[in-house]
Amino acid sequence: MTVTEPVRTTVGGPELPQERRVVTDVPGPRSRELQARRQDAVAAGVASVLPVYVTAAGGGVLVDADGNSFIDLASGIGVTGVGNASPYVVERVHEQVDAFTHTCFMVAPYEGYVQVCEELAALTPGRHAKKSALFNSGAEAVENAVKIARASSGRDAVVVFDHAYHGRTNLTMAMTAKSMPYKHGFGPFAAEVYRVPMSYPFREPAPIDGPGAARRATQMIEKAVGADQVACVVIEPIQGEGGFVVPAPGFLPALASWCRENDVLLVADEIQSGFCRTGDWFACDHESVVPDLVTTAKGIAGGLPLAGVTGPAEVMDAVHVGGLGGTYGGNPLACAAALGAIATMHEQDLAARARTLGELMLGRLGELADRQPAVGDVRGRGAMVAIELVQPGTTEPDAALAAQVSAACHAEGVLTLTCGTYGNVLRFLPPLVMPEDLLVDAMDVVAANVSAAATS
Ligand SMILES: Cc1ncc(COP(=O)(O)O)c(C=O)c1O
Repeated sequence: MTVTEPVRTTVGGPELPQERRVVTDVPGPRSRELQARRQDAVAAGVASVLPVYVTAAGGGVLVDADGNSFIDLASGIGVTGVGNASPYVVERVHEQVDAFTHTCFMVAPYEGYVQVCEELAALTPGRHAKKSALFNSGAEAVENAVKIARASSGRDAVVVFDHAYHGRTNLTMAMTAKSMPYKHGFGPFAAEVYRVPMSYPFREPAPIDGPGAARRATQMIEKAVGADQVACVVIEPIQGEGGFVVPAPGFLPALASWCRENDVLLVADEIQSGFCRTGDWFACDHESVVPDLVTTAKGIAGGLPLAGVTGPAEVMDAVHVGGLGGTYGGNPLACAAALGAIATMHEQDLAARARTLGELMLGRLGELADRQPAVGDVRGRGAMVAIELVQPGTTEPDAALAAQVSAACHAEGVLTLTCGTYGNVLRFLPPLVMPEDLLVDAMDVVAANVSAAATS
């Protein structure tokens, strides 16, 4: 490919041309230069899916140092639902950065933190009195949800599911299912974490409905742990890194009933599925499940690091004064960004946008599955959609095919991600503000590359 003079775009946001444009090899010469510098300076354990170096992003595209414009089907792993450099986020952060950048809420508080907690109380499932505590990352929120559940119940055991992903800190590694790359060589892990089977319709050895799959999990809890030992059951209502696994209808409500009957707190990890991603404010809303605690992060703040744990006032207040916090938790810039992001979600009805984008993706990918037997499953909700690639006619995972398709999409200017316990899932997480014609173009590139790779 000819190397052309790069367009150095440094202003992002929705005004960026919404187009797929590949003007160099991928990665191009400038990105390769930066990659060479990175090899000497950045720890090898920190990987990048597509090593193009971004100079601007907005709407549905990322622009790199060589002037390539990629259609973004990643949203920074489900973060920039409102788009990159989203106007209200930028505006609020600018105002805040001019006012003050940090006091530490535990030292001298400020209104933004309180406002974000008020928003979380209003938006998360259930109309009861709720309180929140704010943190920096998803893993930190999950750790704190467990602390709160243990303090309020006086019990130790934490129940998690096959294929779960909850983070990379010590406790959340123990809660995460997959060894490589998340846990391998990093043990010993935290104790009192028990794993039970998930409802995974595509991979059930025999047909089982949602309530049946919930019974299978709760019976195992009763036999292997003892219900009266369990502080909390932690579940992603739609699993993220584990493969965008959507449990069978009735699974989550049955699990929630069992938790209620046994005084076990149900923690919904909505870190990837929350904030309009699945076509409602939270994935639990689709089946009217009201969890006890909800963990949030990612989409909450349009790209600034913020996370929360939200729950009934009496549960949240079970922790002694001073027992929760952290230097940066609920940083004023991140809170300002969250208020801008939430205002955008309301104003642009991004839950409805997620449903529209989801229908578009499921339609296109369903057509692909009809003609391409390597696509074993098409699933998802709202703008959280995936295809599972298999050896045709079986459920045998084909991770090599997923990697090949992803690399081919990257070369053509579409940023895709893989995931799943078996590495054979292609997942699609477009910004919710992505123009529909851009998403159609991206789906065409994905479909063409699946067909080409599967028949090669
Ligand atoms: C469901 C879920 N929980 C927790 C986490 C961890 O979040 P973070 O990477 O912000 O620590 C993630 C991140 O992908 C996630 O998807």
